[in-house]
Amino acid sequence: MSDQPRDTIESLFQEKRIFPPPAGFAAQAQIQKAEYERLMTLAQTDYEGFWAEQARAELQWVQPFTQILNASNAPHYQWFEDGLLNVSANCIDRHLPERADQAAILFEGEPGDLRRITYAELLVEVSRFANALRSRGIKKGDRVVLYMPMVPEAVIAMQACARIGAIHSVVFGGFSGDSLRDRIIDAEAAAVVTADGGHRGGRVIELKAVCDHIIDDCPSVHTVFVLKRTGHSVRWNPARDVWWHEITAQVSADCPPLALGAEHPLFLLYTSGSTGRPKGIQHSSAGYLLGTILTMRWVFDIRPGDVFWCTADVGWITGHSYVAYGPLAAGTTLLMYEGAPMIPDPGRYWQMCERHKVSVFYTAPTAIRALKKQGDEYPARYDLSALRLLGSVGEPINPEAWMWYHTHIGHDQCPIVDTWWQTETGIHMIAPVPGVSTLKPGSCGRPLPGIMADIVDNQGHPVCAPDQGGFLVITRPWPSMLRTVWRNPQRYIDTYWKMFDNRYYISGDGARRDADGYYWVMGRVDDVLKVSGHRLGTMEIESALVAHPRVAEAAVVGRPDELTGEAICAFVVARGARPVGPDAQALTQELRQWVGEHIGPIAKPATIRYADNLPKTRSGKIMRRVLRAVAAGHPVTEDTSTLENPDIIRQLQGD
Ligand code: WT7
Repeated sequence: MSDQPRDTIESLFQEKRIFPPPAGFAAQAQIQKAEYERLMTLAQTDYEGFWAEQARAELQWVQPFTQILNASNAPHYQWFEDGLLNVSANCIDRHLPERADQAAILFEGEPGDLRRITYAELLVEVSRFANALRSRGIKKGDRVVLYMPMVPEAVIAMQACARIGAIHSVVFGGFSGDSLRDRIIDAEAAAVVTADGGHRGGRVIELKAVCDHIIDDCPSVHTVFVLKRTGHSVRWNPARDVWWHEITAQVSADCPPLALGAEHPLFLLYTSGSTGRPKGIQHSSAGYLLGTILTMRWVFDIRPGDVFWCTADVGWITGHSYVAYGPLAAGTTLLMYEGAPMIPDPGRYWQMCERHKVSVFYTAPTAIRALKKQGDEYPARYDLSALRLLGSVGEPINPEAWMWYHTHIGHDQCPIVDTWWQTETGIHMIAPVPGVSTLKPGSCGRPLPGIMADIVDNQGHPVCAPDQGGFLVITRPWPSMLRTVWRNPQRYIDTYWKMFDNRYYISGDGARRDADGYYWVMGRVDDVLKVSGHRLGTMEIESALVAHPRVAEAAVVGRPDELTGEAICAFVVARGARPVGPDAQALTQELRQWVGEHIGPIAKPATIRYADNLPKTRSGKIMRRVLRAVAAGHPVTEDTSTLENPDIIRQLQGD
């Protein structure tokens, strides 16, 4: 972790409004007060017994487990390890024949095309693609990278991998070819699943073309499956490329699910850290799926007849747990949308809520703020009366955005579940249980049953006094936790455990807990940025900048931004003279473009400032806290006398 942890931040703002569960909601909730208290008590008194009870009740096992938690190789924990099951069978087959004609997936493309896929049809589609994978030699344990638009086939491909024990790794379709290449190489993927393109923001994203660019650098890949989505023409390598529609037509529609060990890796998902390359976060089968089912019920209160819409892309963990797996495992109807919220106008989300009678809606604060800014008239045009529960994820939601969401979308009738969790945790960890919890805007509430969270100081001692900031940690292993960093167990230990001698899982977030035991997440304590709810490592952006021939040195920090949460601010030392005037403007354009090409458009710096040097300590360490203050336009309150080059601050501020 860089500099000192920001555990001394005190929140000056104390939110006083509270929202108890509406009586009508509480009366019908899946988890009522008595059951909530039973779960909390059981988890406290018999932790492993609690999880075993849940795993027996919620999952369909081919072979039941006899071992619950194996901690002999801590912190590499194993759960239910002698049990056998199949995740795809637990998401699809278990609902048949009862839900054969119920919609599993409702889909809306950005251009407006609609699809409805029932559970019976989903089984056929998943089985066909699973057999297609097999027909190209993909077998249990092989890695398959997905680079897809937000269309049902993305979920179908994930489920198909799960059916045969292939390990998928989804790469967000907004990432660049370089990012895709790095992830394919790290995972040593045998196949890639992509599309001729997808619709996003009124444009076509040419996914296959991006793939073509880098695929020759990826010798492990022998097959590229290509879904026809846009109909745009694509380059074709007959030895490697196969059309989705052709190969699935040639194989059987029957693919019995493979019985897999509970600990068999279900997927890898790469995520940014403060140092080094993105890490392949490795999740398990049984423990992961168990957590998604439970949180669908506990937090989203899923019940028959719901239409559940999580707006996240399958390229993020939210799109895994609450698009591809949780909703199907819970047997609900899931809505998927391909495109952007402002197409054709900022009423799109609300129009879709009306059209599909969405009852549970889950999105990110950045989207809420952006839609709020467009004006109250957009949601007012649509009938949102089917909505009964709203959710938020990705970063702390500011109370103003919370209130707008509550009033203009929920019409004061819908509880809001603010869910704190991470790629690594797999599922919601700290979140309201909406029929039971009183809500406080801006707080994610209390830890869920079976989740042992705490706040500790930099010695690892629990911080007991209310409202004192510290490190947010999890003190006991839980079934849906990450298992390791793909092929890098040391990095798993170093990143998540080492600082407190393997005693706690370290989230990397700072938080405080109020007198009622509610958690208030204050943001990251490391150098990871949250831009529009997406995690970006400063180090990756710095490396991309330094790879440009005109850049000698670069430091990237976040500055608070009204819409995106944090905006990327880069400080650049150019080779040769410091760029000024039109030269600086041109270079800024070029560097933004460059970062977009190397990482993806979300990583483009919002501002770039040029200096002759960066503020460094005498030992050569960049003083990020100084840069953060400069980026935010705040006065620099640090003691700069320890700086090697104190004058540089005035130059940085002057631009
Ligand atoms: C980081 C995890 C979890 C899925 C989406 C992002 C921040 C996430 C909240 C929330 C405050 C939140 C944390 C966390 N975060 N949800 N409700 N309140 N902060 O997954 O990319 O793994 O990022 O997002 O900083 O550590 P991710």
